[in-house]
Amino acid sequence: MRIGILTGGGDVPGLNAAIRAVTRRSWEHGHEVMAIRNGWEGLIVGNVLPMTEQMVSGILHVGGTILGASRTNPFKSEANVQKVLDNIRKFKLDVTIPIGGEDTLGVANKFSEMGVPVVGVPKTMDNDVYGTDYTIGFDTAVTTVADALDKLHTTASSHHRALVVEVMGRHAGWVAVVGGLAGGADMILIPEVKSSLDEVAAHVRWRWQRGKTFSIIVVSEGADIEEITYDEKELGAKDEFGHVRLDRRGIAETVAREIERRTGFESRSVVLGHLQRGGSPTVFDRVLATRLGVKAADLAHEGTFGVMAALQGNKIVSVPLKEAMSRLKTVDLELYDLARTFF
Ligand code: F6P
Repeated sequence: MRIGILTGGGDVPGLNAAIRAVTRRSWEHGHEVMAIRNGWEGLIVGNVLPMTEQMVSGILHVGGTILGASRTNPFKSEANVQKVLDNIRKFKLDVTIPIGGEDTLGVANKFSEMGVPVVGVPKTMDNDVYGTDYTIGFDTAVTTVADALDKLHTTASSHHRALVVEVMGRHAGWVAVVGGLAGGADMILIPEVKSSLDEVAAHVRWRWQRGKTFSIIVVSEGADIEEITYDEKELGAKDEFGHVRLDRRGIAETVAREIERRTGFESRSVVLGHLQRGGSPTVFDRVLATRLGVKAADLAHEGTFGVMAALQGNKIVSVPLKEAMSRLKTVDLELYDLARTFF
């Protein structure tokens, strides 16, 4: 059997651990592994080469992806869909294992519906893939957020300021909620729960009145805040999956300015940005990526296609891709309520 592996969408630490796991397990089963470069783009342009021992050596702890990534959507053009099908035939790929989030796996699902054998592996720092409790990269991202909040606490309290910390999270506030909970955030603003600047200002004022002369407010880039609307057109061109760049909203800076204007308390904003996707994967992400990668290789070996390896409870299972792609996994509101106890 010949297995092709690709990584698509935003990179995260843990991708290399997954590539290594799929490859080493597939070799153990006696299969050949092909490296597809730069996500789905590699199958459009035919950038596919044999995976070597050297390529997967010493990469377990290394962030990013040795395969390269892109946000290429072959379904933007019929010609590109055909090129992918042609290259799958040309490189004799019996199964393709895409490692990605909703966009990359959404493409996999469409090819699967056309009869192409695929097995998905879920990764995204956003943790919003349905059907798996965790995605590769999320734990590392929230560890970075918690570490940043620890550091920001000392300067916020020394200067008696409100610090508004922007984290990634397009449709789901998992990074804000879990990172904020771990880092002792005093308020968390997410896409799933509508909030308002009045509410934020009132909360900061209330804290000051209780003698807490600083506040750490974590805000998802996609947070739903009543007074902060935006016109998608102003945020620049959309990517091939129709997403605008939410970092261009500058939401943390707007919230910080409004806190200062409404309360008179000095405020600053911090954007954690791509730091959340950098560095070495945590132990949790290394083990998760390894378990999911091994499962994907086993599913391919058995000939179980059109599925995604997933973590449910402490078990690695397979979930139909169609089901996983049917919706997004938004924040567990019970967890958000729990975080509110500490606001
Ligand atoms: O991959 C998901 C994500 O991390 C989102 O949280 C964020 O909106 C987006 O990627 C930013 O991606 P980039 O800057 O790489 O285009």
